[in-house]
Amino acid sequence: MHSVLVTGGAGFIGSNFVRHLISTTDLSVTVLDKMTYAASRESIADLPEDRCRLVVGDIVDAALVDELVASHDAVVHFAAESHNDNSLNDPSPFVQTNLVGTFTLLEAARKHDVRFHHISTDEVYGDLELDDPNRFTEATAYEPSSPYSSTKAGSDLLVRAWVRSFGVRATISNCSNNYGPYQHVEKFIPRQITQLIDGLRPRLYGDGLNVRDWIHVEDHSSAVLTILTKGEIGQTYLIGADGEKNNLEVVRALLEAFGRDADDFDHVTDRPGHDRRYAIDSTKLRTELGWQPQFGDFSSGLADTVQWYRDNESWWRPAKAATESMYAAQGQ
Ligand code: NAD
Ligand code: DAU
Repeated sequence: MHSVLVTGGAGFIGSNFVRHLISTTDLSVTVLDKMTYAASRESIADLPEDRCRLVVGDIVDAALVDELVASHDAVVHFAAESHNDNSLNDPSPFVQTNLVGTFTLLEAARKHDVRFHHISTDEVYGDLELDDPNRFTEATAYEPSSPYSSTKAGSDLLVRAWVRSFGVRATISNCSNNYGPYQHVEKFIPRQITQLIDGLRPRLYGDGLNVRDWIHVEDHSSAVLTILTKGEIGQTYLIGADGEKNNLEVVRALLEAFGRDADDFDHVTDRPGHDRRYAIDSTKLRTELGWQPQFGDFSSGLADTVQWYRDNESWWRPAKAATESMYAAQGQ
């Protein structure tokens, strides 16, 4: 394998993955990204031009996708509309990008017999009760709740069907909540960090007891590269780092990091249909492919992330006001 096409490589996880590829392999990378509001050229601007090229385009554009897929050895497909709150306001781009875009890529991978890795989410499995002793595994039934997660679930099923019906050489990974550098300020952790940098109060949906299973984005990247190089075609691998925390705990850790009072936050309108808890059992990935997370200490990962947002205000500041206006309009 010499060249990889990374869709969505100017977004949060995609850009971290491209950085991971450039620093740990000698692969050359083409990023295909529509440059939506969630993308940033700055996230990959410092990478060497002879190793990383950006093509601005839409994964729904069949002619462009066909040409790019044909000229690469593998596709790693991150591009998506990724934010649940947006999907509740306007599901349309989620259907287009997450479903039609994935279909378009699969057709090109099928035609040119190109290795395909599909990036997905633990949200396809719905949610768990807080006291449920079980976690999600590869055998858990799909039960997505939101327009976002249902379009991701549909895209996973397209991949499975293209493997079985057409022999496409694809793998799928479903990962839990990522955090780390280059994450858009609409998402929970960067939103609260940037509120605190601005001297404002964190905003907690509902009772704040919803649990997310946090993983550092660098661990997601190493897991995806492991699956791309060692994964078995047709298989699904769950990616997680045993990082369950409720949202209140995360807000309190951030308040402490900023020297603020533990109750210095606001409860705001809850998300409709808000999933209660996600939890990943990543035994298959660890035992079959030998992957281990390296950034499992959440408090030091969170401290590094706070420092990154302090050091990179020019990266996030342009999106902050518009994001907060959007939230204010829905009482959040
Ligand atoms: P993001 O919103 O930060 O980035 C998505 C990128 O895709 C952006 O650069 C955007 O411009 C691009 N894009 C959107 N529509 C496109 C289109 N039609 N054509 C080309 N490019 C397009 O998202 P993220 O948080 O980095 O998530 C990346 C992937 O990982 C998604 O597939 C998401 O479902 C999955 N995922 C995310 C998380 C998480 O915690 N953020 C966890 C598990 C899985
Ligand atoms: O589980 C993986 C998923 O994680 C990915 O598939 C999604 O792309 C990604 O966006 C993320 O989805 P969540 O909905 O869990 O992430 P979000 O950052 O939006 O919210 C995390 C939790 O924090 C959730 O319980 C809602 C809550 N929340 C969020 C925001 C933005 C708040 O309490 N306050 C906030 O201001």
